[in-house]
Amino acid sequence: MPRAVIIDTDGGVDDAAALWWALRSPELDVVAVTVVWGNVAVDTAMASVGRVLAAAGRADIPVARGAAGPVGVAPGLRPATFIHGDDGLGNTTNGLAAPAMTVATEAAPALIGRLCRERPGEVSLLTIGPLSNLGLVLADDPGFAATVGELVVMGGSARAGGNALPAAEANIAHDPMAAALVAEAGWAQPPLLVGLDVTREATLTDGHFALLGEHRSAAAAFLDAPLRFYRQFGSVLTAPDCPCHDLVAAMALADPDLIPDAPVLPMAVDAAGGPAWGATVVDFRAPAVARLRGAEQDRAPGFGPWRIGLGADVARFRSQAAALFGG
Ligand code: RIB
Ligand code: CA
Repeated sequence: MPRAVIIDTDGGVDDAAALWWALRSPELDVVAVTVVWGNVAVDTAMASVGRVLAAAGRADIPVARGAAGPVGVAPGLRPATFIHGDDGLGNTTNGLAAPAMTVATEAAPALIGRLCRERPGEVSLLTIGPLSNLGLVLADDPGFAATVGELVVMGGSARAGGNALPAAEANIAHDPMAAALVAEAGWAQPPLLVGLDVTREATLTDGHFALLGEHRSAAAAFLDAPLRFYRQFGSVLTAPDCPCHDLVAAMALADPDLIPDAPVLPMAVDAAGGPAWGATVVDFRAPAVARLRGAEQDRAPGFGPWRIGLGADVARFRSQAAALFGG
């Protein structure tokens, strides 16, 4: 029985790959896509998502518009159009007519809250953009967290430093206050953080790009040009390999063996505006402290228990990505 999942996305190129992956996964049933600002403006991200769903033959899935900006004070980041294109799809759709899509009547935070409350423990959440939508749901109803099945967040970094800022990964840096609310909410089970520690390891290779160019699957035909655009700037820290952050997170939701090294550790977000603004702070001392004291690990204010992805099964990721591209 596939697991019901809501995907919360900011409509970029790696988001499109993640969406394609989730739509063709027999493990997942995408019940809604919720859209948030981030890589591009929220309305551009809506159109980007609509194009993916239409190309995948799933224009029936409801798409809800969400936050157009951060819920709290946030660093002023420049738009990521240089990585994702003006359209969020590598400038492959600029000027085309709007896609046919099923736009939800509720805003994203309302839809997320309602779907999870209607089926407590049954609906999972995959977030692959800034956490503004989740922050809004939690601000309205902190009890919502206990109704969510599994939460997988692409964001943050335990040991790998930042990408948008020196210490901050982009999805957290866009809205640190929302991310701080998410970090310490009372989730039913520790959420999985899929951060730069794993997404810079589990990368796409030259072989994947050769395969993409053959257009052997509908996903490859759609993603080929956007991923080539994205690769130019998205892989500056990993060249010649190319991270595809959101795709790793989508696969990790469907396949728990993809990230075998994911200890439960306390995690918080620095929302204070200093040099580490937007950093995810992981307390690696916690297990040692717990052993020493023979008690539950101490948790400082603002921290919540998370499964922190530290190591991926890279071969597994690469083989599943190749399968998506028709290999
Ligand atoms: O840091 C990577 C994340 O930022 C991905 O979700 C990418 O799409 C951008 O939003
Ligand atoms: Ca994203």
